[in-house]
Parts: sequence; C-alpha cells; structure tokens
Amino acid sequence: MRLHHVFMLFLLSLGPVGIAQAETPVERGKYLVQFGGCNDCHSPGYFFGKTTPETFLSGSDVGFQLPQGTFVGPNLTPDGETGLGKWTEAEIVTALQTGVRPDGRVLAPIMPWHAFAKLTKQDAAAIAAFLKSMKPVRHQVPGPLGVGEKPTFPVMTIIMPEGAPSQSK
Ligand code: HEC
Repeated sequence: MRLHHVFMLFLLSLGPVGIAQAETPVERGKYLVQFGGCNDCHSPGYFFGKTTPETFLSGSDVGFQLPQGTFVGPNLTPDGETGLGKWTEAEIVTALQTGVRPDGRVLAPIMPWHAFAKLTKQDAAAIAAFLKSMKPVRHQVPGPLGVGEKPTFPVMTIIMPEGAPSQSK
C-alpha cells in the first residue's frame, strides 16, 4: 500500500464527523432545548421576566391549571432528589417522546410531548444528554394537584374552548 493510500484510509476512518467537526450530542441537545422552549415552562421566574442562568431549567414557579389538574414544569437539572438525577437518559427520552414517566404516569399534554414524539431518536437522546450534563440545582416544584385541590402557588388557568373534551389528553 502506498503512503497516500494509507492517508486516504486515515481520512475515511475519521468519517464525516471528523472532517466537519460536528457538534457533540450535548451541544446538539443544548441547541434543541433552546429551540424547544423548555425554559419557558421549566425555569423559575420566566413568567415574571426574571430568569437567571444559575436556575436555568431548575423547575418553574407557576403552574398550569388544566381540566385534568394543576401541573408545574418540574426541575430538569440532574439533582438526585428534586430533579432528573435518578432518571436514566433512556427514561428521559421515553418521557419526551411518549409522555410516560418512569413511574408510569402519563404527563399532562401541556408538556408538548406529542410534538417531541416527532424528534429523531438521536435528537431526543441529545436532549437527554444535555439535561444530564447540567449542574444539579436543588429545587422541588409543587404538585401535581388533582382537579379538586386548590393551588397555593401562582397558576395560569387554561380554559378549554367550548366543544373541547373536558378531560382531553
Ligand atoms: C408549555 C410548557 C412546557 C414546555 C414548552 C416544555 N415542558 Fe416539559 N413539562 C411541562 C409540565 C407542566 C410538566 C409536568 C407535567 C405533569 O406532571 O404531568 C413537564 C414535564 C416534563 C418532564 C417530566 C419531568 C418529571 O419530573 O416528571 C420532562 C423530562 C420534560 N418536561 C422535559 C421538557 C423538555 C426537555 C422541554 C423542551 C424540549 C420541555 N419539557 C418543554 C411543561 C412544559
């Protein structure tokens, strides 16, 4: 084998990733999280115009009051007690794409998992990798509350349009 053949093989072995310097899964996940609006519903202060980089995605302080109960966007940082620390990346992908939590509960549809179901497996995995790469922040959000329970925290009440099924999924 001639020397330049060896060099060609070396280039091929790098593949498109090595040559194009593609982003890492964590970088890709960060990009998708920024585009996906996760910050709006999962960071404290968002609805008051007061977010801080330190509390990014550490759980909202406003709940959504829906026909099926009241739900606060939980802490998505990898804190073991109050966030996703004990979830595997595969469990995060399942929640994002099917709405099913590790305990079997199906997430309220205000969490746009029906839309995230359309992400490629690779992109969903990149989001999970980014969430796991964040600094853990300790912050427990309240809820979820059942239909009859009165919230003791700020909520936005979502009134369904006439004709919509009241227990809509
Ligand atoms: C419109 C608001 C909204 C947006 C946008 C949103 N979420 Fe959520 N998310 C929620 C709410 C509310 C819940 C809790 C629902 C429940 O408990 O049934 C939730 C739950 C979750 C859960 C389950 C966490 C747990 O502890 O149960 C994960 C994971 C999650 N969201 C990730 C994301 C990611 C990643 C994005 C962006 C790509 C995102 N969410 C965008 C509102 C939102």
